[in-house]
Amino acid sequence: CGIVGYIGQNNIKEFLLDGLKELEYRGYDSAGLAILQKSELKICKAVGKLENLRRKCADMKVEGFGVGIAHTRWATHGKPTELNAHPHLGEFSYVVHNGIIENYKELKESIDAKFVSQTDTEVIVHLFEKNLKELNDPLKAFKATIDALKGAYAILLITKAAPDKIFFAKEGSPLIVGKNEEEIYFASSDAPLIGHAKEVHYLEDGEWGVAAYGKVTLFKNEEHIEPDFQPLTINKELAQKGGYRFFMEKEIYEQSDVITETMMGRVVNSHIEFEEIESEFLQEIKAIKICACGTSYHAGLSGAYLIEKLARIPVSCEIASEFRYKDPVLHKDTLFIVISQSGETADTLEALKMAKSAGLKTLAICNVDNSSIVRLADRTILTRAGIEKGVASTKAFTTQVMVLWMLALYFSQLTNTLDENSRAKEIEALLHTPHALKVDENLHERIRRLSKRYLHGHGFFFIGRDIFFPLALEGALKLKEISYLHAEGYPAGEMKHGPIALADPELFTIALMPKNLLYDKIKSNVEELSARDSTICAISSQEFELADDFVRIHTWDHYMLEYYEMAVVLQLLAMEIAIRLGNDVDMPRNLAKSVTVE
Ligand code: G6P
Repeated sequence: CGIVGYIGQNNIKEFLLDGLKELEYRGYDSAGLAILQKSELKICKAVGKLENLRRKCADMKVEGFGVGIAHTRWATHGKPTELNAHPHLGEFSYVVHNGIIENYKELKESIDAKFVSQTDTEVIVHLFEKNLKELNDPLKAFKATIDALKGAYAILLITKAAPDKIFFAKEGSPLIVGKNEEEIYFASSDAPLIGHAKEVHYLEDGEWGVAAYGKVTLFKNEEHIEPDFQPLTINKELAQKGGYRFFMEKEIYEQSDVITETMMGRVVNSHIEFEEIESEFLQEIKAIKICACGTSYHAGLSGAYLIEKLARIPVSCEIASEFRYKDPVLHKDTLFIVISQSGETADTLEALKMAKSAGLKTLAICNVDNSSIVRLADRTILTRAGIEKGVASTKAFTTQVMVLWMLALYFSQLTNTLDENSRAKEIEALLHTPHALKVDENLHERIRRLSKRYLHGHGFFFIGRDIFFPLALEGALKLKEISYLHAEGYPAGEMKHGPIALADPELFTIALMPKNLLYDKIKSNVEELSARDSTICAISSQEFELADDFVRIHTWDHYMLEYYEMAVVLQLLAMEIAIRLGNDVDMPRNLAKSVTVE
């Protein structure tokens, strides 16, 4: 999602609409704006692309001084409808918000107000008004409101109780305040501010305050502080990429944050909860079939290992285009799961239709709400990765795997296959995932340097065992997609049954060697390849003398944390090789982000 705000007298409506346009790449299922001028409110919301909002508010006359807030939404709680679009209204106040309020249900119960949307955001505005009635001071009421919120947020709030001010707060979601002489600007990233604000202050977590024309009053928790305004100089393209060279790079770096959103509200007191599915929905389910394409298929294969391991339910995973034409045997006690970043992949959509018409219960794991697949499936779990621009999927993949891991644990709660202790260990590891996904700058630099040795050769084998086999498949796919080099993912134990015949120094083996899963087995597979002179690049936390190149990951005590850190290594490796080869990393030749044809 994206938010913007403004205090001043220069084309308020145009600034808000143009600002949203700059943020549209972050989400666009609905948008809205609210402007207060001398206690008179003008508000407009529309579903779909920003153009709809622009058209809808074309007749709205706004001249002279005012305060305004606006939002473009990417649904997490509640469908993309006009009622669910921001700004959300109270009796006399209006709010826009990015992030997720985890405790919105509890808060909602404590407030006697009429809720009209299904969003977590609406609770903020009602809580503010309730607090204002009790405290009689907008600033104190705003502080009391944010103190009650749990989760992540960037908030802008306007109210008729203080009609020339914007109240703001940041925790976990980005927010910037900008200034140009007396005019005040807000945005959730640099892009809308370029060409408007001369100086900006990047808010830190815990910072909040109130802005009026020419004045920003800032607090960090309880303490009054001065904003640290710096000149804003960067250009728009760079701003959209957040300073990274490619969207893919930005998206790799974002994974550590977005995975937190994937988990938010779903890990409750050492249990997994999905408000999207009720346990009755899963009654009578004896088996699971997963269907997907491309990277989503690799997430599906990983999920199959996790669900079988943790919940002891038989799972099969198939490529959607194969499934469609093989005349599959389908039983009604099988839960059919489709996985898709875009929700529009034609083969996956058709597979879903087949399963539905065979009477199977269906569940979609998807990144785009209101997409065709989401609309068709009985239930959906959103991955909440935010828009993914790079054609080579990164954060969509890691969030899909996270949903599947959580689902595996959720099923294990129903099947009672994990004792208390093992479940606690799983949850602890799960909550550590953001650390495993955090890109270590030194590690990135190491990969950048060694990538120059992998620009030729007659092929790559990415090898792994168990769940590291689908990760190997994904590593090979990343490399193929953006470097155009030939790469194959293979189960390490299977190399001796054929592919080892290819081994020579020009055959590059990328070996995934997790300490916590079948380490000795994979080690002997790699030794066999090394003995036949294949060039070995080993990824592990354990020293491995036979490696020609060694990428050391951190020592983790759960194989999934090794899986996640290795996923980042493989993404960076593919990207650095592609950059050295001079390829367009974000738009590789012959590929499309969403394939809506068969
Ligand atoms: C295309 C993309 C891939 C993606 C696949 C499935 O081929 O280039 O990156 O994995 O489609 O897409 P989906 O949106 O269904 O996950």
